[in-house]
Amino acid sequence: MDITELRNSMGKEMDMTRLRDSMKKVLSEKRYIHSLGVEEVCHDLALIYGADIEKAEIAGILHDCAKYLTKEEFLSEAKRYRLPISPYERDNPYMLHAKLGLIYAREKYGINDEEILNAILFHTTGRPNMTLLEKIVYVSDYIEPNRKPFPGLDEAREVAYRNLDEAVIIVSKCTLYYLNEKGVNIDPATKTTYEYYVNQANI
Ligand SMILES: [Fe+2]
Ligand SMILES: [Fe+2]
Repeated sequence: MDITELRNSMGKEMDMTRLRDSMKKVLSEKRYIHSLGVEEVCHDLALIYGADIEKAEIAGILHDCAKYLTKEEFLSEAKRYRLPISPYERDNPYMLHAKLGLIYAREKYGINDEEILNAILFHTTGRPNMTLLEKIVYVSDYIEPNRKPFPGLDEAREVAYRNLDEAVIIVSKCTLYYLNEKGVNIDPATKTTYEYYVNQANI
């Protein structure tokens, strides 16, 4: 490693430390530990599938960077930033943490990379035709090691390291199943993601 490479890698590590410290300050301990787990899995999946490791780590540590607001704050912040609020988000304001996460990542943590910002934006519901980084964050959020065990988790973990698209199907299917069981309204976007990837697998 020459001196420039060494400086670059030290600079990147300092950036990650800064982001981790910021998350530790704003998030609950549980969510901070979850975010560290997501960062770790994002790193591993990026390595396996050939995504940009630094971007994956940044998206992983920051994906829930707005998930500390109260219901009222989610709505008032969304209003302040003139975000469109879907009927589902109106009923479930915490779902706005993805859209606000993108804004906070940009405004509070200086992230301007579109790929990272989109991975944060789509981490809760996924979307059809996701980029590699979006899929990595979507799946990592679900399978990170600190998650409490629940149906489908072991399967998702096992599949994630060999077939990312199949892992997206399992994660979206389990999310739909879980919300249905809980009697909670389902975000139509998760259903769209699930159907897209099932259809794609059947082509
Ligand atoms: Fe989240
Ligand atoms: Fe999360």
